[in-house]
Amino acid sequence: MNYCLMHKNVAVALLELDEETGFIQKAKALYEREHLPCGVRVLNGLPDRAALNDWWLERSIPASRSGIVRALEILDLKTTKMLLLRCFGLSLSDQYWMKPENSGLEWGQINFFENGFSEDIGDVLLGKTDKSADLDFSSPDNTSDGCLKKRWKILDGKRVLLKSGSNPFQQQPFNEVIASAVAERLKIPHVEYKLLWDDGVPFSVCEDFIDTKTELISAWRIMQSVKRENGVSVYRHYINCCERFGVKDIGPAVDKMIVLDYIIANEDRHQNNFGLIRDPDSLTWLGAAPIFDSGTSLGYDKLAGQILSGRDIECKPFKKRHEDQIKLVTSFDWIDFDALSDVDEEIREILSAAGKFVDDERREAIIESVQGRISALKVFASERSPQRDELIDDIPADSAEEF
Ligand SMILES: Nc1ncnc2c1ncn2[C@@H]1O[C@H](COP(=O)(O)OP(=O)(O)OP(=O)(O)O)[C@@H](O)[C@H]1O
Ligand SMILES: [Mg+2]
Repeated sequence: MNYCLMHKNVAVALLELDEETGFIQKAKALYEREHLPCGVRVLNGLPDRAALNDWWLERSIPASRSGIVRALEILDLKTTKMLLLRCFGLSLSDQYWMKPENSGLEWGQINFFENGFSEDIGDVLLGKTDKSADLDFSSPDNTSDGCLKKRWKILDGKRVLLKSGSNPFQQQPFNEVIASAVAERLKIPHVEYKLLWDDGVPFSVCEDFIDTKTELISAWRIMQSVKRENGVSVYRHYINCCERFGVKDIGPAVDKMIVLDYIIANEDRHQNNFGLIRDPDSLTWLGAAPIFDSGTSLGYDKLAGQILSGRDIECKPFKKRHEDQIKLVTSFDWIDFDALSDVDEEIREILSAAGKFVDDERREAIIESVQGRISALKVFASERSPQRDELIDDIPADSAEEF
Protein backbone atom coordinates (compact mmCIF):
# COMPACT_ATOMS: atom_id res chain seq x y z
CA MET A 1 0.00 0.00 0.00
CA ASN A 2 1.15 3.57 -0.65
CA TYR A 3 2.04 5.88 2.19
CA CYS A 4 3.27 9.43 2.17
CA LEU A 5 6.25 10.04 4.44
CA MET A 6 5.24 13.18 6.33
CA HIS A 7 7.16 15.68 8.44
CA LYS A 8 4.38 17.32 10.41
CA ASN A 9 2.23 18.68 7.54
CA VAL A 10 4.94 18.52 4.88
CA ALA A 11 4.62 15.68 2.37
CA VAL A 12 8.20 14.41 1.95
CA ALA A 13 8.05 11.31 -0.27
CA LEU A 14 5.65 8.75 -1.65
CA LEU A 15 6.50 5.21 -0.59
CA GLU A 16 5.12 1.73 -1.00
CA LEU A 17 5.08 -0.24 2.24
CA ASP A 18 4.42 -3.89 2.96
CA GLU A 19 1.89 -3.71 5.76
CA GLU A 20 2.66 -7.21 6.99
CA THR A 21 6.35 -6.63 7.59
CA GLY A 22 6.49 -2.85 7.79
CA PHE A 23 9.25 -2.73 5.15
CA ILE A 24 9.48 0.06 2.60
CA GLN A 25 9.33 -1.75 -0.74
CA LYS A 26 9.65 1.16 -3.10
CA ALA A 27 10.34 4.88 -3.10
CA LYS A 28 7.94 6.27 -5.72
CA ALA A 29 8.38 10.02 -5.58
CA LEU A 30 10.31 12.69 -3.72
CA TYR A 31 8.52 15.94 -2.89
CA GLU A 32 10.65 17.72 -0.28
CA ARG A 33 14.29 16.67 -0.30
CA GLU A 34 15.30 18.96 2.59
CA HIS A 35 12.77 17.28 4.89
CA LEU A 36 14.07 13.75 4.33
CA PRO A 37 15.28 12.09 7.54
CA CYS A 38 18.84 13.13 8.32
CA GLY A 39 21.38 10.93 6.56
CA VAL A 40 19.04 9.56 3.86
CA ARG A 41 20.62 10.20 0.45
CA VAL A 42 18.90 10.83 -2.84
CA LEU A 43 19.77 8.54 -5.76
CA ASN A 44 18.51 9.33 -9.25
CA GLY A 45 15.96 11.74 -7.88
CA LEU A 46 14.50 9.31 -5.33
CA PRO A 47 15.32 8.67 -1.68
CA ASP A 48 17.72 5.75 -1.23
CA ARG A 49 15.34 2.94 -0.27
CA ALA A 50 17.89 0.99 1.79
CA ALA A 51 18.79 4.08 3.82
CA LEU A 52 15.11 4.92 4.30
CA ASN A 53 14.44 1.39 5.53
CA ASP A 54 17.34 1.69 7.98
CA TRP A 55 15.86 4.90 9.34
CA TRP A 56 12.30 3.56 9.41
CA LEU A 57 13.16 0.25 11.07
CA GLU A 58 15.33 2.06 13.63
CA ARG A 59 12.04 3.52 14.84
CA SER A 60 10.80 0.12 15.94
CA ILE A 61 11.31 -1.28 19.41
CA PRO A 62 14.69 -3.08 19.38
CA ALA A 63 14.68 -6.87 19.53
CA SER A 64 16.89 -6.52 22.62
CA ARG A 65 14.09 -4.81 24.61
CA SER A 66 13.58 -6.51 27.94
CA GLY A 67 10.39 -8.61 28.00
CA ILE A 68 9.73 -8.19 24.27
CA VAL A 69 9.28 -11.91 23.48
CA ARG A 70 6.36 -12.20 25.89
CA ALA A 71 4.89 -8.88 24.71
CA LEU A 72 4.95 -10.03 21.08
CA GLU A 73 3.25 -13.28 22.09
CA ILE A 74 0.44 -11.34 23.71
CA LEU A 75 0.16 -8.98 20.74
CA ASP A 76 0.27 -11.96 18.40
CA LEU A 77 2.95 -10.33 16.26
CA LYS A 78 6.15 -11.77 14.83
CA THR A 79 8.32 -8.68 15.15
CA THR A 80 8.15 -5.23 16.66
CA LYS A 81 8.41 -3.77 13.14
CA MET A 82 4.78 -4.72 12.65
CA LEU A 83 3.83 -2.19 15.32
CA LEU A 84 5.19 0.78 13.40
CA LEU A 85 2.28 1.40 11.07
CA ARG A 86 -0.25 0.75 13.84
CA CYS A 87 0.50 4.27 15.11
CA PHE A 88 1.44 5.73 11.70
CA GLY A 89 5.07 5.72 12.89
CA LEU A 90 4.33 8.68 15.18
CA SER A 91 6.73 9.31 18.03
CA LEU A 92 7.15 11.67 20.98
CA SER A 93 10.78 12.37 20.04
CA ASP A 94 10.40 13.71 16.49
CA GLN A 95 7.79 14.79 13.94
CA TYR A 96 7.87 12.14 11.20
CA TRP A 97 4.93 9.87 10.36
CA MET A 98 3.45 7.77 7.55
CA LYS A 99 0.17 8.86 6.09
CA PRO A 100 -1.88 6.28 4.18
CA GLU A 101 -2.26 7.74 0.68
CA ASN A 102 -5.59 9.51 0.17
CA SER A 103 -6.50 9.07 3.85
CA GLY A 104 -7.14 12.74 4.57
CA LEU A 105 -5.41 12.33 7.95
CA GLU A 106 -3.74 15.44 9.31
CA TRP A 107 -0.85 15.74 11.70
CA GLY A 108 -2.84 18.04 13.99
CA GLN A 109 -5.50 15.34 14.51
CA ILE A 110 -3.20 12.49 15.35
CA ASN A 111 0.18 13.63 16.75
CA PHE A 112 0.81 12.41 20.29
CA PHE A 113 2.06 15.77 21.56
CA GLU A 114 -1.39 17.35 21.31
CA ASN A 115 -3.66 14.30 21.29
CA GLY A 116 -4.12 11.51 23.80
CA PHE A 117 -2.90 7.98 23.27
CA SER A 118 -3.78 4.49 24.37
CA GLU A 119 -2.16 2.85 27.42
CA ASP A 120 -2.70 -0.66 26.04
CA ILE A 121 0.70 -1.18 24.42
CA GLY A 122 2.49 0.32 27.43
CA ASP A 123 0.62 -2.11 29.70
CA VAL A 124 1.68 -5.05 27.54
CA LEU A 125 5.31 -3.89 27.28
CA LEU A 126 5.55 -3.52 31.03
CA GLY A 127 4.00 -6.94 31.60
CA LYS A 128 1.00 -5.44 33.37
CA THR A 129 -1.60 -7.34 31.39
CA ASP A 130 -2.07 -10.55 29.43
CA LYS A 131 -5.19 -9.17 27.77
CA SER A 132 -4.90 -9.48 24.03
CA ALA A 133 -8.41 -8.70 22.85
CA ASP A 134 -9.58 -5.28 21.67
CA LEU A 135 -6.24 -3.58 22.11
CA ASP A 136 -5.92 0.01 20.97
CA PHE A 137 -2.55 0.25 19.21
CA SER A 138 -2.32 4.03 18.90
CA SER A 139 0.64 4.64 21.18
CA PRO A 140 4.07 6.28 21.04
CA ASP A 141 5.36 3.13 22.78
CA ASN A 142 5.33 1.42 19.37
CA THR A 143 8.17 3.67 18.22
CA SER A 144 10.22 3.98 21.39
CA ASP A 145 13.84 2.97 21.32
CA GLY A 146 16.07 1.34 23.91
CA CYS A 147 16.61 -1.93 25.74
CA LEU A 148 14.90 -1.20 29.04
CA LYS A 149 11.20 -1.67 29.67
CA LYS A 150 9.53 1.68 29.25
CA ARG A 151 6.29 3.46 28.46
CA TRP A 152 5.00 6.94 27.77
CA LYS A 153 2.23 8.30 29.99
CA ILE A 154 0.38 11.54 30.38
CA LEU A 155 0.73 12.64 34.02
CA ASP A 156 -0.71 16.00 35.12
CA GLY A 157 -1.08 16.93 31.45
CA LYS A 158 2.61 16.29 30.71
CA ARG A 159 4.02 13.55 28.46
CA VAL A 160 6.50 11.60 30.60
CA LEU A 161 8.68 8.58 29.94
CA LEU A 162 8.73 5.88 32.60
CA LYS A 163 11.70 3.56 32.41
CA SER A 164 12.60 0.60 34.60
CA GLY A 165 15.95 -0.95 35.49
CA SER A 166 17.33 -4.42 34.96
CA ASN A 167 17.86 -7.27 37.39
CA PRO A 168 19.40 -7.97 39.78
CA PHE A 169 20.05 -4.46 41.15
CA GLN A 170 17.42 -2.36 39.30
CA GLN A 171 19.97 0.42 39.61
CA GLN A 172 19.36 2.38 36.39
CA PRO A 173 16.41 4.49 37.67
CA PHE A 174 18.47 5.57 40.69
CA ASN A 175 21.46 6.24 38.45
CA GLU A 176 19.34 8.53 36.28
CA VAL A 177 18.45 10.55 39.38
CA ILE A 178 22.11 10.66 40.47
CA ALA A 179 23.23 11.73 36.97
CA SER A 180 20.62 14.52 37.10
CA ALA A 181 22.02 15.64 40.46
CA VAL A 182 25.63 15.70 39.22
CA ALA A 183 24.60 17.52 36.03
CA GLU A 184 22.59 20.04 38.03
CA ARG A 185 25.56 20.78 40.27
CA LEU A 186 27.84 21.27 37.25
CA LYS A 187 25.20 23.29 35.35
CA ILE A 188 25.19 20.78 32.50
CA PRO A 189 21.97 21.03 30.45
CA HIS A 190 20.15 17.78 31.20
CA VAL A 191 16.82 16.05 31.39
CA GLU A 192 15.61 15.92 34.97
CA TYR A 193 14.85 12.36 36.13
CA LYS A 194 12.87 11.55 39.25
CA LEU A 195 12.08 8.28 40.95
CA LEU A 196 8.68 6.64 40.90
CA TRP A 197 7.67 3.33 42.49
CA ASP A 198 4.99 1.22 40.91
CA ASP A 199 4.03 -2.06 42.55
CA GLY A 200 7.38 -2.34 44.32
CA VAL A 201 9.32 -1.69 41.10
CA PRO A 202 11.47 1.43 40.76
CA PHE A 203 11.12 3.55 37.60
CA SER A 204 12.79 6.72 36.46
CA VAL A 205 10.41 9.32 35.14
CA CYS A 206 11.30 12.29 32.97
CA GLU A 207 9.34 14.79 30.94
CA ASP A 208 9.37 14.76 27.18
CA PHE A 209 12.02 17.32 26.19
CA ILE A 210 10.58 17.51 22.67
CA ASP A 211 7.43 19.41 21.71
CA THR A 212 5.65 20.30 18.48
CA LYS A 213 8.33 22.87 17.62
CA THR A 214 11.39 20.70 18.15
CA GLU A 215 12.73 17.25 17.36
CA LEU A 216 15.60 15.06 18.49
CA ILE A 217 18.03 13.90 15.81
CA SER A 218 20.45 11.31 17.15
CA ALA A 219 24.21 11.58 16.74
CA TRP A 220 23.97 8.33 14.78
CA ARG A 221 21.75 10.03 12.17
CA ILE A 222 23.87 13.16 12.16
CA MET A 223 26.98 11.11 11.47
CA GLN A 224 25.23 9.40 8.56
CA SER A 225 24.92 12.76 6.81
CA VAL A 226 28.48 12.58 5.47
CA LYS A 227 30.81 9.65 5.00
CA ARG A 228 33.57 9.52 7.60
CA GLU A 229 36.87 9.73 5.81
CA ASN A 230 39.74 7.43 6.67
CA GLY A 231 41.91 8.93 9.34
CA VAL A 232 39.09 11.02 10.84
CA SER A 233 38.22 10.02 14.41
CA VAL A 234 34.60 9.47 15.46
CA TYR A 235 34.85 12.53 17.71
CA ARG A 236 36.16 14.75 14.92
CA HIS A 237 33.56 13.40 12.52
CA TYR A 238 30.75 14.30 14.92
CA ILE A 239 32.09 17.80 15.52
CA ASN A 240 32.56 18.30 11.76
CA CYS A 241 29.00 17.14 10.98
CA CYS A 242 27.51 19.45 13.61
CA GLU A 243 29.56 22.40 12.39
CA ARG A 244 28.45 21.64 8.84
CA PHE A 245 24.87 22.03 10.06
CA GLY A 246 25.82 25.39 11.53
CA VAL A 247 25.92 24.23 15.17
CA LYS A 248 29.00 26.14 16.21
CA ASP A 249 29.10 25.64 19.96
CA ILE A 250 29.01 21.85 19.92
CA GLY A 251 32.50 21.41 21.43
CA PRO A 252 31.57 22.73 24.90
CA ALA A 253 28.39 20.61 24.92
CA VAL A 254 30.38 17.48 24.08
CA ASP A 255 32.96 18.42 26.74
CA LYS A 256 30.16 18.45 29.31
CA MET A 257 28.80 15.09 28.22
CA ILE A 258 32.25 13.49 28.37
CA VAL A 259 32.92 14.91 31.84
CA LEU A 260 29.56 13.76 33.22
CA ASP A 261 30.07 10.29 31.74
CA TYR A 262 33.56 10.13 33.24
CA ILE A 263 32.27 10.96 36.72
CA ILE A 264 29.42 8.44 36.63
CA ALA A 265 31.40 5.82 34.64
CA ASN A 266 28.73 5.67 31.96
CA GLU A 267 29.06 2.54 29.83
CA ASP A 268 26.40 3.17 27.21
CA ARG A 269 26.62 6.64 25.67
CA HIS A 270 26.13 5.12 22.22
CA GLN A 271 25.26 7.28 19.25
CA ASN A 272 21.52 7.11 19.86
CA ASN A 273 21.96 8.38 23.40
CA PHE A 274 22.86 11.95 22.45
CA GLY A 275 22.29 14.26 19.54
CA LEU A 276 20.98 17.60 18.36
CA ILE A 277 17.66 19.39 18.49
CA ARG A 278 16.18 20.72 15.25
CA ASP A 279 13.24 22.95 14.44
CA PRO A 280 11.09 20.68 12.22
CA ASP A 281 9.41 23.61 10.45
CA SER A 282 12.39 25.78 9.52
CA LEU A 283 14.88 22.87 9.68
CA THR A 284 17.16 25.12 11.74
CA TRP A 285 19.54 23.24 14.02
CA LEU A 286 19.03 24.54 17.54
CA GLY A 287 21.98 22.94 19.37
CA ALA A 288 22.85 19.95 21.52
CA ALA A 289 20.04 17.94 23.09
CA PRO A 290 20.05 17.98 26.88
CA ILE A 291 21.79 14.96 28.38
CA PHE A 292 19.43 11.98 28.70
CA ASP A 293 19.75 8.23 29.32
CA SER A 294 22.65 8.10 31.77
CA GLY A 295 21.43 5.09 33.75
CA THR A 296 23.79 2.44 32.42
CA SER A 297 26.51 3.70 34.71
CA LEU A 298 27.85 3.54 38.30
CA GLY A 299 28.59 -0.18 37.97
CA TYR A 300 24.89 -0.93 37.39
CA ASP A 301 25.55 -4.63 36.65
CA LYS A 302 28.70 -5.16 38.72
CA LEU A 303 29.38 -6.42 42.21
CA ALA A 304 30.62 -4.02 44.90
CA GLY A 305 34.21 -5.27 44.63
CA GLN A 306 34.25 -4.72 40.89
CA ILE A 307 32.79 -1.24 41.30
CA LEU A 308 35.59 -0.38 43.71
CA SER A 309 38.28 -1.81 41.46
CA GLY A 310 37.15 0.45 38.60
CA ARG A 311 38.11 -2.22 36.10
CA ASP A 312 36.13 -3.44 33.07
CA ILE A 313 34.24 -0.20 32.58
CA GLU A 314 33.17 0.15 28.95
CA CYS A 315 33.27 3.52 27.27
CA LYS A 316 31.39 5.06 24.33
CA PRO A 317 30.86 6.86 21.98
CA PHE A 318 34.31 8.11 20.99
CA LYS A 319 36.95 6.08 22.80
CA LYS A 320 37.17 2.60 24.28
CA ARG A 321 38.36 3.87 27.66
CA HIS A 322 37.15 6.82 29.72
CA GLU A 323 40.80 7.65 30.45
CA ASP A 324 41.28 8.30 26.73
CA GLN A 325 37.89 9.87 26.09
CA ILE A 326 38.43 12.49 28.80
CA LYS A 327 41.52 13.66 26.89
CA LEU A 328 39.19 14.94 24.15
CA VAL A 329 37.78 17.60 26.48
CA THR A 330 38.86 20.99 25.23
CA SER A 331 38.30 22.93 28.46
CA PHE A 332 37.78 22.06 32.11
CA ASP A 333 37.56 25.71 33.18
CA TRP A 334 33.79 25.57 33.58
CA ILE A 335 33.87 22.78 36.19
CA ASP A 336 33.05 23.99 39.67
CA PHE A 337 34.57 21.21 41.76
CA ASP A 338 33.27 22.87 44.95
CA ALA A 339 29.75 22.17 43.72
CA LEU A 340 30.59 18.46 43.95
CA SER A 341 32.08 18.60 47.45
CA ASP A 342 29.05 17.09 49.18
CA VAL A 343 27.60 15.15 46.27
CA ASP A 344 28.31 11.96 48.24
CA GLU A 345 25.53 12.88 50.67
CA GLU A 346 23.04 13.36 47.87
CA ILE A 347 24.02 10.05 46.25
CA ARG A 348 23.69 8.30 49.63
CA GLU A 349 20.21 9.72 50.08
CA ILE A 350 19.12 8.70 46.56
CA LEU A 351 20.47 5.15 46.92
CA SER A 352 19.08 4.74 50.42
CA ALA A 353 15.63 4.80 48.85
CA ALA A 354 16.53 1.72 46.78
CA GLY A 355 15.89 -0.59 49.75
CA LYS A 356 16.61 -4.24 49.03
CA PHE A 357 18.01 -3.52 45.54
CA VAL A 358 21.13 -1.69 46.74
CA ASP A 359 22.62 -2.87 50.03
CA ASP A 360 24.92 -0.78 52.24
CA GLU A 361 28.13 -2.28 50.85
CA ARG A 362 27.07 -1.61 47.27
CA ARG A 363 25.92 1.92 48.05
CA GLU A 364 29.20 2.85 49.74
CA ALA A 365 31.22 1.28 46.90
CA ILE A 366 29.34 3.43 44.39
CA ILE A 367 29.93 6.57 46.44
CA GLU A 368 33.63 5.78 46.91
CA SER A 369 34.08 5.17 43.20
CA VAL A 370 32.41 8.48 42.29
CA GLN A 371 34.62 10.32 44.76
CA GLY A 372 37.67 8.59 43.30
CA ARG A 373 36.70 9.60 39.79
CA ILE A 374 36.07 13.20 40.80
CA SER A 375 39.52 13.34 42.45
CA ALA A 376 41.15 11.83 39.36
CA LEU A 377 39.32 14.35 37.16
CA LYS A 378 40.53 17.21 39.36
CA VAL A 379 44.14 16.09 39.01
CA PHE A 380 43.78 15.54 35.27
CA ALA A 381 42.11 18.93 34.75
CA SER A 382 44.87 20.72 36.65
CA GLU A 383 47.73 18.92 34.92
CA ARG A 384 46.40 18.65 31.43
CA SER A 385 48.38 19.65 28.41
CA PRO A 386 47.00 19.71 24.86
CA GLN A 387 46.19 16.15 23.80
CA ARG A 388 46.20 14.36 20.52
CA ASP A 389 43.06 12.58 19.31
CA GLU A 390 44.68 9.19 18.60
CA LEU A 391 42.74 6.98 16.20
CA ILE A 392 44.12 3.85 17.82
CA ASP A 393 42.02 4.58 20.93
CA ASP A 394 38.77 5.00 18.95
CA ILE A 395 35.82 2.66 19.36
CA PRO A 396 36.23 -0.24 16.90
CA ALA A 397 33.44 0.80 14.52
CA ASP A 398 30.76 3.44 14.22
CA SER A 399 27.95 1.97 16.20
CA ALA A 400 24.58 2.89 17.48
CA GLU A 401 23.01 0.30 19.75
CA GLU A 402 22.29 -3.06 18.16
CA PHE A 403 18.91 -3.49 16.60
N1 LIG B 1 12.65 12.76 27.79
C1 LIG B 1 12.61 12.37 26.51
N2 LIG B 1 11.98 13.12 25.58
C2 LIG B 1 11.94 12.73 24.29
N3 LIG B 1 12.48 11.60 23.82
C3 LIG B 1 13.13 10.81 24.71
C4 LIG B 1 13.23 11.15 26.07
N4 LIG B 1 13.94 10.19 26.70
C5 LIG B 1 14.24 9.28 25.77
N5 LIG B 1 13.77 9.65 24.56
C6 LIG B 1 13.86 8.88 23.31
O1 LIG B 1 13.59 7.54 23.62
C7 LIG B 1 14.70 6.70 23.32
C8 LIG B 1 14.83 5.61 24.38
O2 LIG B 1 15.03 6.19 25.65
P1 LIG B 1 16.31 5.82 26.51
O3 LIG B 1 17.52 6.04 25.69
O4 LIG B 1 16.21 6.60 27.78
O5 LIG B 1 16.05 4.28 26.76
P2 LIG B 1 17.04 3.09 27.17
O6 LIG B 1 16.25 1.83 27.20
O7 LIG B 1 17.76 3.46 28.42
O8 LIG B 1 18.05 3.07 25.98
P3 LIG B 1 19.39 2.18 25.80
O9 LIG B 1 19.04 0.97 25.06
O10 LIG B 1 20.24 3.17 25.07
O11 LIG B 1 19.90 1.89 27.18
C9 LIG B 1 15.89 7.64 23.23
O12 LIG B 1 16.90 7.14 22.39
C10 LIG B 1 15.26 8.92 22.71
O13 LIG B 1 15.12 8.83 21.30
MG1 LIG C 1 19.03 4.93 25.10
